[in-house]
Amino acid sequence: MSSAPPLQMTGGRVRFDGREALSGVDLRVGAGEFLAVLGANGSGKSTLVRALLGLVPLSGGRTEIYGVPPARFRDWKRVGYVPQRLPAGGGVPATVREIVASGRVARRSRWRPASSADRAAVDAALRAVGLADRARDSAHLLSGGQQRRVLIARALAGEPDVLVMDEPTAGVDAASQAALAAILRELAGRGRTVVLVAHELGPLEPLIDRCVVMEHGRVAHEGAPPPPAWSRAAQAEDPHHHGPREGARSDEIGMRAG
Ligand SMILES: Nc1ncnc2c1ncn2[C@@H]1O[C@H](COP(=O)(O)OP(=O)(O)OP(=O)(O)O)[C@@H](O)[C@H]1O
Ligand SMILES: [Mg+2]
Repeated sequence: MSSAPPLQMTGGRVRFDGREALSGVDLRVGAGEFLAVLGANGSGKSTLVRALLGLVPLSGGRTEIYGVPPARFRDWKRVGYVPQRLPAGGGVPATVREIVASGRVARRSRWRPASSADRAAVDAALRAVGLADRARDSAHLLSGGQQRRVLIARALAGEPDVLVMDEPTAGVDAASQAALAAILRELAGRGRTVVLVAHELGPLEPLIDRCVVMEHGRVAHEGAPPPPAWSRAAQAEDPHHHGPREGARSDEIGMRAG
């Protein structure tokens, strides 16, 4: 079983309200691979990565995480996920540190308090995204770009083997994008698997091993970077490009623990 790829989908289909958002996708993400998922707004990028992790059910085909269907997968500490949309406000306000520490939950044994390893991982993740000095602040007081960095830090704190990030650089300034590129370069160097959804690769482009370009719920192009000029042109022309949509769906708040 150890040779099973981190993520593998075969003939994956997803329907929303009778419309197909994913139409028979075959995708294998190998261990240590850095895959970029590109495509215009509404082409199915988020649906693809959420379906790969079992966050939306398939209406056809199958998908496996390290060889196990998501419903039976238990080893969530191996998986990190940065959702595209921020969870809606409400609930108890949490500090930046508390949210980042929640990324360790799948690693902790049930009755143990946070260990020094947990605290060190949280500190390292906060430093990596440049938010160490905001650790005690309430997360809802941060800017949108800073909140995205909190979600990135939460995923990093879990020290996952496979990291799935849905447009982590949307609305994030150039300095933070460069910092994220440095973090991802380090993870890639340590053999971690990364799936990155993006509109533009920017400073991340040199890290990419393979691109898939989504179009109308299908993989329209697959190959080595850089992405084909036609796909970049299509994205640039897209009149509906508005970055991440407002409003969150509660199922995107986080990975299930344990
Ligand atoms: N929960 C949902 N309910 C109904 N329709 C949905 C839902 N999620 C996505 N869709 C629809 O499925 C299609 C693909 O959406 P998806 O969010 O996967 O695209 P995307 O490529 O990630 O777009 P963006 O670049 O805007 O993030 C779109 O037509 C979208 O409106
Ligand atoms: Mg999306």
